[in-house]
Amino acid sequence: MNTGLQRIPSGIDGLDEMIKGGFPFPSVVLVAGSAGTGKTTFAMNFLMEGAKRGEQGLFFTTLSEPTQWMLRYAGQFDFVKKDYFGNEIRYEDMGLLLQREGYEELLDFIDDKIAETMPQRIVIDPITVVGAFLEEDYRLFLFELTNLLKNWQATTVLTGEVKPGEPYPAQISYAVDSVVILSMEEEEGTRRKYLEVLKMRGTDHTAGRQPLTITQKDGVIVLKSRF
Ligand SMILES: Nc1ncnc2c1ncn2[C@@H]1O[C@H](COP(=O)(O)OP(=O)(O)O)[C@@H](O)[C@H]1O
Ligand SMILES: [Mg+2]
Repeated sequence: MNTGLQRIPSGIDGLDEMIKGGFPFPSVVLVAGSAGTGKTTFAMNFLMEGAKRGEQGLFFTTLSEPTQWMLRYAGQFDFVKKDYFGNEIRYEDMGLLLQREGYEELLDFIDDKIAETMPQRIVIDPITVVGAFLEEDYRLFLFELTNLLKNWQATTVLTGEVKPGEPYPAQISYAVDSVVILSMEEEEGTRRKYLEVLKMRGTDHTAGRQPLTITQKDGVIVLKSRF
């Protein structure tokens, strides 16, 4: 059935086949997982795909990482074209702001940067760090953030870091349109990675976790199910 939903390719090899062609546009997607499961790489794949198609991207980090750090990490992957940074992909460090300001200033900052850049693709990586700073205002922040994002013509990827074994940040998943979970498991001495689409607004999607790999060439790739 054609629901008239506009979609954009995710930039993750193998994922679009699981979600009927791509992420709904506009929408807000949570990509959750513990450290090292591939969230930042996923976000990079997402922005690179857009840049390749002439779309504007905006990457907010909450980690106080200067652009140089980001470029060094991202630059090791073949799929990353460094020339996009500062142009098709704008990078904004929210680290200092988080230490000094309340949730209203943070929302204003995000809104202003979006208005300046007019991106089709937005990333906030990782959104969960904001929770540690805002404490009781975090819930309100998430609610207002997702409302704010819905006013723009963009698809946003929020990454959510959880402790190993913890499934996903429940309070964020209520506020977003879609939830993708990345996970990691030790099996026979090797560390296997998985991706599961938990929900995707307006879209049938493949249920259950699919094996995933991260390569220097392509970043995050969903492998065909072994079953
Ligand atoms: N050059 C590389 N080639 C292949 N895999 C890599 C490379 N660099 C990092 N990785 C993989 O990416 C993972 C880290 O991904 P990252 O996106 O930083 O995770 P997260 O943001 O969830 O902490 C590592 O666990 C590693 O398996
Ligand atoms: Mg990361």
